[in-house]
Amino acid sequence: PTNFFNEKYRPQFHFTPIKNWMNDPNGMVYFQGEYHLFYQHHPESTVWGPMHWGHAVSSDMVHWEHLPIALFPDENGYIFSGSIVVDTWDSSGFFDGGEGLVAIFTHAGEHPDTKTPRQVQSLAYSTDKGRTWTKYEGNPVLEDTSIADFRDPKVIWYEKESKWIMVLSAGNHVRFYSSSDMKSWRFESSFGEKEGSHLGVWECPDLFQLPIEGGHRWVLIVSIGDDPAYTEGSRTQYFIGDFDGKMFTNENDSEKVLWLDFGRDNYAGVTWSNVPKEDGRRLFIGWMSNWKYANQVPTETWRSAMTLPRSLTLNSTREGIRLVQTPVQEISALRKPITSIQRTITLIPGENILKDIKTKTFELKACFKIKEAAVFGIKVHQSKEEETIIGYDSDRSVLYVDRRRSGDKTFHNEFSCVQEMEVFIEDQFALQIFVDTSSVEVFANDGKHVLTSLIFPREESNGLELFLDHGAVDLKSLDLFDYQSIWAI
Ligand code: FRU
Repeated sequence: PTNFFNEKYRPQFHFTPIKNWMNDPNGMVYFQGEYHLFYQHHPESTVWGPMHWGHAVSSDMVHWEHLPIALFPDENGYIFSGSIVVDTWDSSGFFDGGEGLVAIFTHAGEHPDTKTPRQVQSLAYSTDKGRTWTKYEGNPVLEDTSIADFRDPKVIWYEKESKWIMVLSAGNHVRFYSSSDMKSWRFESSFGEKEGSHLGVWECPDLFQLPIEGGHRWVLIVSIGDDPAYTEGSRTQYFIGDFDGKMFTNENDSEKVLWLDFGRDNYAGVTWSNVPKEDGRRLFIGWMSNWKYANQVPTETWRSAMTLPRSLTLNSTREGIRLVQTPVQEISALRKPITSIQRTITLIPGENILKDIKTKTFELKACFKIKEAAVFGIKVHQSKEEETIIGYDSDRSVLYVDRRRSGDKTFHNEFSCVQEMEVFIEDQFALQIFVDTSSVEVFANDGKHVLTSLIFPREESNGLELFLDHGAVDLKSLDLFDYQSIWAI
């Protein structure tokens, strides 16, 4: 087919639904050679509505096969976000002693008797590699009518005590529950009322362990929803600390906020469960949009994409231990080399060494040495009228993405903006960027600083410019790869 996934703004190497609305990634699990990705989906419309779980599978997290809808709303309500685990020893009793998949999700509906709104946690299971699902007849399995926002359960296996742990969001904090069968849950503790950022309702938590310096730390991810009072919209924060099977303790000051991403468009991200120990990676994907304007972005047949899948690790810094994100190496299968520069080139204002190159879907890796205070960077999706600037200002030690002239931004008055993050450079500055039809993902200093941003440029804006505004900078190396479409047949 000629117009297969070729619509205006359709990402070429990021996951999108075939048509209609998508938000949070859900239920990511690796099982029998397949990476599953479920997602919040409204199959009838391009705006949010009755939530279903859409479904896709992949053998590499890059090429996706779209599958039929996995979970439909029912008498308990819409199917909100949640997670999936592999129940290897049939702890749930759903699998006749064998193994299978259990989905733990929020039912958002109303109380059958009082008809008041409620959010409760429910189960569904699959014995055929996630192709079909049966909802548990005892649903819901966890409720607390005292709280309105009570959702997004993430279940993990807590090996030390051989029990399931659920972390879920409860308004302005997260709660931990434990269980042996996932059907009955025991409250263990809550965390967060006075920790981190509260510029919005807490949503979509995740909890996992990562190795560092011969030991390990627990990481707690918490997304915070859009509040009209703040221009940044919905964002994701994380905490570093310890989890003892009951309680999470934050090792940073409670008022310290650690942002996962300094761009506006990486929300509700969580990680895959059951990734084999031999692989060892903690694999993450986020929803590449923002509640501020997600329902209004100018795409026609579908809405929203996921970020690139990323691998999470920890890094020890002077301020403490911090998350690092790197795009999974599987993505490099899409590379088609355009140019490679492996010698020093002194940048000159007004001279663009990339002026003959035209591309809108690419990866660029570059290394710079700053010799004198400078402002420099790369302009992408460029034409006379449009450009998205990825720049570094060494006076302020700030890396920024300026989307004020990036293309269509009329759909929301807060879309046009400059997004910034503090990046200190010691010797050389390593920049890796992934640019798709309607997004930019910036990984600085090997993923220690990440910025994800949507843009909506015109099709004709396909230029690239390496620029030096002022100061003295040497380019040490540069590799540019065109990216093949994942939808190409
Ligand atoms: C986060 C969220 C979740 C909820 C889902 C509903 O983006 O608001 O808290 O489960 O989206 O679609």
